[in-house]
Amino acid sequence: MQGRNHVNVYRLILLAIVLNASAALVSLTAHCEEANYDEAKAGPYTLPDPLIAADGTQIKTKEAWVTKRRPEILHLFQTEMFGISPARPKILRIQFDESATDALDGKAVKKVVRVNVTENADGPEMLITLYLPANARKPVPVFVGVHLFDTAAPRPMPGKPLAKQEVEFPKGLTDTLPGDRLPETILERGYGFATINAADIAPDNKDTFDSVAIRAFLKPGKEKRGPNDWGAIGVWAWGLSRALDFFECDPEIDAKRVIAIGHSRMGKTALWAGAQDERFAMIISNNSGCGGAALSKRIFGETVGIINDNFPHWFSETFRKYNQNESALPFDQHELIALIAPRPVYIASSEMDRWADPTGEFLSGVNAAAVYALFGKTGLGTDTMPEANKPIGEMIGYHNRSGKHALTDYDWVQYLNFADMNLKVK
Ligand code: GCU
Repeated sequence: MQGRNHVNVYRLILLAIVLNASAALVSLTAHCEEANYDEAKAGPYTLPDPLIAADGTQIKTKEAWVTKRRPEILHLFQTEMFGISPARPKILRIQFDESATDALDGKAVKKVVRVNVTENADGPEMLITLYLPANARKPVPVFVGVHLFDTAAPRPMPGKPLAKQEVEFPKGLTDTLPGDRLPETILERGYGFATINAADIAPDNKDTFDSVAIRAFLKPGKEKRGPNDWGAIGVWAWGLSRALDFFECDPEIDAKRVIAIGHSRMGKTALWAGAQDERFAMIISNNSGCGGAALSKRIFGETVGIINDNFPHWFSETFRKYNQNESALPFDQHELIALIAPRPVYIASSEMDRWADPTGEFLSGVNAAAVYALFGKTGLGTDTMPEANKPIGEMIGYHNRSGKHALTDYDWVQYLNFADMNLKVK
């Protein structure tokens, strides 16, 4: 009898080991989800139609879009993906740390401003570093991004915060700026540029991301964010809006012509800022990829499961329920672009950046066009992917630059052209 019992116990232990092993195997496969780079395996998928409301009604007018459908889609992105952000603080406490009129050999006015991002006088502060063209007629339009340049560097290189970043320029690519003249070029063309520091409000780290703004806004008695609360991208996007609050107070800045720009994770951030805050006049997503401009349901390059595993702090916890389950998403990233309508938005890819899925980024623009059409505006004007280095589009701009994942001078020149086209004071 005893012997049999033993056998049963051993069987149970064995079963437990097998079950555990298979559970471990499941979670191992979840962590090791491999990126698909085979176009034949991308899809099939069905994109939600931005013009069909939750109750099945067809949206036929811009009024119906603005009052009915837009709020529905925005709510989905808030509750299912980026998390809900707190409202705009009622008071903005600003302190000027630096103001110089002779920056960049007299070409720029430089301001460093400290903004308290809460209503509490002891609350966390965010630094805004701003360069305005010294000789332009004020107020000027401004590009603003998270971490666009190293604030400690004597010479700002927008989009090149990492000194070691290496970008190979393919031969024959025109519109580059010989001799690192990017900051001067932006200023000469009449634009200012500004940066905010991500770490001031949400460190880009899964263990400490919630130690500043998220902590400051926790409901009394709560120790950590709830499943639908904002993640780091939500905080950074909200920081861009707080910079815009400051711009509205600065008579040298045209707050009606502020352009949110971002590369990669900060491209996702710029799109989310522009989707929520309609004061941004134009949005630029440079190589934003998964969670940014790239469609999630296509399953090409980085996926929802991969991004949530590697960066659990970027989105809300709820977003994880779509890991390896993108078909269940009630929205896709073309609708993030549509939330920006009718304002101009530029989506840029780079050919070698397959992780970010250039085709998926382009298709988001294609599938957002119907919403621009409601406003009588042309988006990309085509559904054919253009050749490399051929910028296209009217209210939705697009190019697929040759080369790697980066924000280059070539990209900047297209953004300046697009801003001239859409935001120039006539
Ligand atoms: C990683 C991440 C991307 C992100 C990129 C970046 O590659 O997987 O989603 O865009 O970092 O921010 O540079």
